[in-house]
Amino acid sequence: MRAVQIVDLTGPESALAEVDIPEPEPSHPLTPGEGVVVDVHAAGVSFPEVLQTRGLYQIKPELPFVPGSEVAGFVRSAPEASRLSEGDRVAACCLLGAFADVAVAPDFLTFPLSDELDFAQGAGLILNYHTAYFSLVNRGRLREGETVLVHGGAGGIGTATLQVAKGLGARTIAVVSSDEKERVAREAGADEVVRSDGAWKDQAKELSGGGVDLVIDPVGGDRFTDSLRSLRESGRIVVVGFTGGSIPEVKVNRLLLNNTAVIGAGWGGFVLSKPDLNREIGAAVNRFVQEGFVRPVVGERFPLERASEALEVRRSSLTISRLRDGVRPREREVPPGAPMVRLR
Ligand SMILES: NC(=O)c1ccc[n+]([C@@H]2O[C@H](COP(=O)([O-])OP(=O)(O)OC[C@H]3O[C@@H](n4cnc5c(N)ncnc54)[C@H](OP(=O)(O)O)[C@@H]3O)[C@@H](O)[C@H]2O)c1
Repeated sequence: MRAVQIVDLTGPESALAEVDIPEPEPSHPLTPGEGVVVDVHAAGVSFPEVLQTRGLYQIKPELPFVPGSEVAGFVRSAPEASRLSEGDRVAACCLLGAFADVAVAPDFLTFPLSDELDFAQGAGLILNYHTAYFSLVNRGRLREGETVLVHGGAGGIGTATLQVAKGLGARTIAVVSSDEKERVAREAGADEVVRSDGAWKDQAKELSGGGVDLVIDPVGGDRFTDSLRSLRESGRIVVVGFTGGSIPEVKVNRLLLNNTAVIGAGWGGFVLSKPDLNREIGAAVNRFVQEGFVRPVVGERFPLERASEALEVRRSSLTISRLRDGVRPREREVPPGAPMVRLR
């Protein structure tokens, strides 16, 4: 089969090679001896792949290996006890191996893909949307009617969080940095949009009638203290990521004084050992797809042989600090939406 491998750790521009290798066995490291074999039509391009080209991600397979965390395509074969069968359209999280004609995922991380979504959208469904649901519901305890403020509202996690929050019946406020991102955030379901370089904390308090119930924060950095100040009593802030470049610190007396909470959300670490929770989250996300709330925002699409360009696009939206090179401003703006690698 055709595949792209990471062959050395020199970064996205040079670490990838297109190869012809045998198809994988129907077995996944999380479910040894078993796995759903998928004929891949599209593969998502995420931060892990970019970091792996420099050996900086926590999953560090031996070289060479096929990277890629999530795919969409048709089931070629499924374990006997699976509710999936040959020919089903699916979205799957394989963790590795997505940049290839054929990939294998655990049954509990493979979900029927609704006709409402194309394969490119399906390949952007699991990491972002499952994280969004996990952050809002399992960690943030969001209730219908509450107001949630979403940082990085035009990003992958941001748009997913806005869409899922609307599906859950919440009121949404997005924080973004430009007109173009405001448009993307509104399309994703932001009821209100405020600017990260403006008086967003005061605006959020005013728009929510005294303070928001929940903040979802994939950005971190300097704005964290203002996020805490934007909460109402009993408000919660869920820490999801640090695209802003630095990891904020909290003076915990603020939590005591205002009866607020800071909560961590690490999707993979929590859910990968809990098959039933994955199925629960997958069913909820699929319901929101069918109800029209969830529509993944797809950015540029690349053929397999241009996978390194797709990784370059993803890398340029990474703060350099993520590549352990000191904190610097972002290199350039990239268009919203996750890049995809097209296999068929
Ligand atoms: N906890 C988990 O389980 C989990 C799961 C998946 C991803 N994540 C993490 O979540 C974070 C967000 O991922 P994503 O896919 O949403 O990223 P993304 O699509 O690149 O969006 C990130 C957003 O961050 C904002 N941002 C603020 N300062 C920035 C800076 N200096 N450089 C770049 N962006 C900056 C940008 O919005 P504005 O320009 O509007 O400010 C941008 O739209 C990442 O750190 C990722 O590793 C965590």
